[in-house]
Parts: sequence; structure tokens; C-alpha cells
Amino acid sequence: SGASRPRLTFLGTGYLGATYAICYAELGYEVLGFDPDVDKIEKLSGGEVPFHEPGLDELLRKNVASGRLRFSTSYQETADFGDVHFICVGTPQRANGLGAELGYVETCVTNLAQHLTRKALIVGKSTVPVGTAEWVEQLVGKNAKPELGIEVAWSPEFLQEGFAVDDVMRPNRIVVATKTDWANSLLHAAHKGVFDLAAVEDREVPVVNTDFATAELVKHAANAFLATKISFVNAMAEVCEAAGGDVTALSRALGHDPRIGNRFLQAGLGFGGACLPKDIRAFQARAQEIGAGEALRFLHEVELINLRRRQRVLNLAADLLSRRYGPAGPDLSGARVAVLGATFKPNTDDVRDAPALAVAGMLARAGADVHVYDPQGIENAKRALPDVTYAKSMVDAVTDAELVCVLTEWAEFRNADPVVLGDVVAAKNVIDGRNCLDVPTWKSAGWTIRALGRPT
Ligand code: UGA
Repeated sequence: SGASRPRLTFLGTGYLGATYAICYAELGYEVLGFDPDVDKIEKLSGGEVPFHEPGLDELLRKNVASGRLRFSTSYQETADFGDVHFICVGTPQRANGLGAELGYVETCVTNLAQHLTRKALIVGKSTVPVGTAEWVEQLVGKNAKPELGIEVAWSPEFLQEGFAVDDVMRPNRIVVATKTDWANSLLHAAHKGVFDLAAVEDREVPVVNTDFATAELVKHAANAFLATKISFVNAMAEVCEAAGGDVTALSRALGHDPRIGNRFLQAGLGFGGACLPKDIRAFQARAQEIGAGEALRFLHEVELINLRRRQRVLNLAADLLSRRYGPAGPDLSGARVAVLGATFKPNTDDVRDAPALAVAGMLARAGADVHVYDPQGIENAKRALPDVTYAKSMVDAVTDAELVCVLTEWAEFRNADPVVLGDVVAAKNVIDGRNCLDVPTWKSAGWTIRALGRPT
């Protein structure tokens, strides 16, 4: 049907699928979001986004009200509705830690294909190991009626939590892999809303047309590059610590070189979240399988650098509190420690693979009495790390603490008044795990401050 305004479905209404469904309805498409999870679909239909993402609630309610956006748990309804079906289901890390679990992709594609009754395009968006698109094409071949001529395409996404709406509506590039002109022009029509918006705003959205394997690799390569950039600067932080240098100044100096660029050079506790850690592991596992393991061996080092930052915070804690090291590391037994931040970065409620929460757990295992506060992440944090104390406010968390650790750079912590906090703590010790505090201000309020990669 009409390639001018194809009807779109997004299968899987997690972070990726829900954001896309809502934003593409906002761009003017008729959209259906599918998920087998009744609870999620009820929430979304009722105008409630099941996670925290700035600006998304409002767009959801507006587009549900307009009738352009609806949600369903029915494969049949989804198959009947769409001209283009985007696969947005999760590809979590396998239980053995090696590679991505493709069970959700398999279930979703199989069911969708079986229910299709007219020609349609299935587009993979989930992050997958290279080779998955070809396998999806075979799955479709096995499960869809051959006379329908269902086609498969691949188009990875690059949205960042906290900026998801803008990243989807104003992407800095679109990558598409198609095998026929029909698929290519239909996928172009499915992105036309993005190109039209860019034209109105006098921008261009570059399109990279490529093959299946490359499209899949672009996604892993992009996240591997970002993780490497972060670990590079954190490795420099280690060297600065040994040499007495200041990694924040080093990073600024590097960033002025446009060939290097100043973004993603923030030294601190390192990267977490649902994507970077999982993707670099999956990328290595897949490279190993296809005989290119050696090429990505450095990613193992990237991960080790990332994990060493957590241990560094623990060691700084022991030093500040004048504690001894036992056989299992520093002994912090009985020390009351405030942890400010639980999410993997600010402006999200996501605690998946969050360095802050990992350190909170390490402090607790070292014997500390840990009190955690986070502006948005407490509910999720309680499920992920139940056996620490959760405070209702920043002041509650730091009250009577001998040590305060700032582990996620929320504005509330950056802008905290060290005089006010100094009045309620038991001892004025602070670790800046994200290089987000103004050292002179804290020092003049009487605090002893330690930071990652810079002298204080
Ligand atoms: C990341 C990528 O940035 C997106 O482009 C990609 O689409 C997404 O993964 C995905 O694969 O779906 P996200 O996980 O939302 O996005 O988070 P980032 O903003 O990339 O931050 C990742 C981690 O790196 C955070 O823990 C953050 O604190 C840390 N980070 C970031 C640093 O430690 N230093 C920096 O300079 C930048």
C-alpha cells in the first residue's frame, strides 16, 4: 500500500520501540506499538511511559489522543496494520556472558511472519551480532507465505537515553541496508518524516546505504568507539594519578583538537548502562566466532580499565578513612558512607550496569553502612541492590556519614552546598567520582576531597 505514507509498527515497546513509536507518530505517521507484555501495553495505551525519558510522556498522550498512535498485544492486529514493521525487541546478554540472546528476536519475527497477509517490509533495529539480519531473512522465509514476497531490511539506531526524543526525530545519520529498490524506497518513505523535519529546520540527515553485515557492524563499532574513548581518558586518569597530573585539564586540551573532539572525554567512574558494556562484550564474542577475535582484543582492555575505576573509588575510601586492607581488599566495616547517585548517568532512572550502584555494592561488601540517594533511580536501584539503605533525600543520605561519594553527576549533587552538607555529616570527606564538584568551594568549606585522575 501507499509508499507515500506507509503505516508503521514497532515490535517491542522497551526503551527503543516505545520511543520510536511515539516519535514517529509525532512525525505524522500512523503507528502501532506491539508488545506481548499486557502491563506495558495497558500503561502506554493509558498515556503512561513505563520509564523516565524527558519529553516523552507529553508526546505519548498527544499522539494517543489524536488517534495516530495505538498499542496492541496482538500479532494479528500488528501484521494487518503495518506496511513496515520495525523489530525493536531486546537483545540482552546471554546468561553465560558471551554474546547476545536472540530469543526475543526469533519469537517476534516468527510470529509476525506467520500472521502477515500482504506484502510488507520487516526492518531490524535491535542491536545484534553481525549475521543476524541474514538469519532473520531466513526465519521470515520459513514462516511467511512465500507468495507475499515479504522482505527484510536493517537500520540500526543510535539513541542516547536522556536525549532519546531528539535523537530519534533529529538523528545525526540514518544507516539503511536493503536488498531491493522496493525495500529501499519504502524504507525511505518510512523515514520521510525525519527528512521533512530536517528540511524545515535547515539541516541535513546523512544517509548511509550499505549491506546487512555492515549495517549491523556500524552499531557495535559506534558503541565500541565510544567505550574506547571513555576508557582512553580513564587510562589517562590512572597515569595522571601516578604522575600528579590533572586529567580534566588533559581532556580539555585533547578535546580542542577537532580530530579528537571534546565529547565523551569525561574521566570518572566509567561507562555503564544497558548498551556500552553489553555491546562491547557481544562484539568481542561474535568477532571470536567469525575468526576476527584478535582484532577486538583491545576491547577486553577497555573493559578492564572501566572496572578498575570502581576499585579506585574503594581504595580512595579506605585511604580517606585510614582503613586497612584485608585479604579481600579494604576493610570499611562500620563506616557510614553516603553514595550520591545510583543511575548509570544523570537524567535517567536506569540503573542497568550502573557504575554508581556497583560501587555502592562494593562498599557494602567491604563492610560499610551504605546510604544511597538518587533523584530518579531509587525504585529501580532497590530491586537491583536490595541490601543497602535508601535515603529519601540527599541530606538524609549524608547525615552522620564519615564519607560522601558522588558517583553520578546529577545537577542536584553538582550544585549541592558543601556548607549545608558539612553541617550534617560526621566527617567532611568526599570522593568526586565524576569530576563534577568544584574543588576550591568544597575545600574552603572544610572538606577533604579526592577525585579520579586529578590532584585535590
Ligand atoms: C549509548 C550510546 O551513546 C548511544 O549512541 C547508543 O544508541 C546507545 O548506547 C545504545 O546502544 O542504545 P546510552 O547507553 O544511553 O547510549 O548512554 P551514554 O550517554 O552513551 O553513556 C554511557 C555511559 O558512559 C554512562 O555511564 C556515562 O556516565 C559514561 N560516560 C559518558 C563517561 O563516563 N564519560 C563520558 O565522557 C561520556
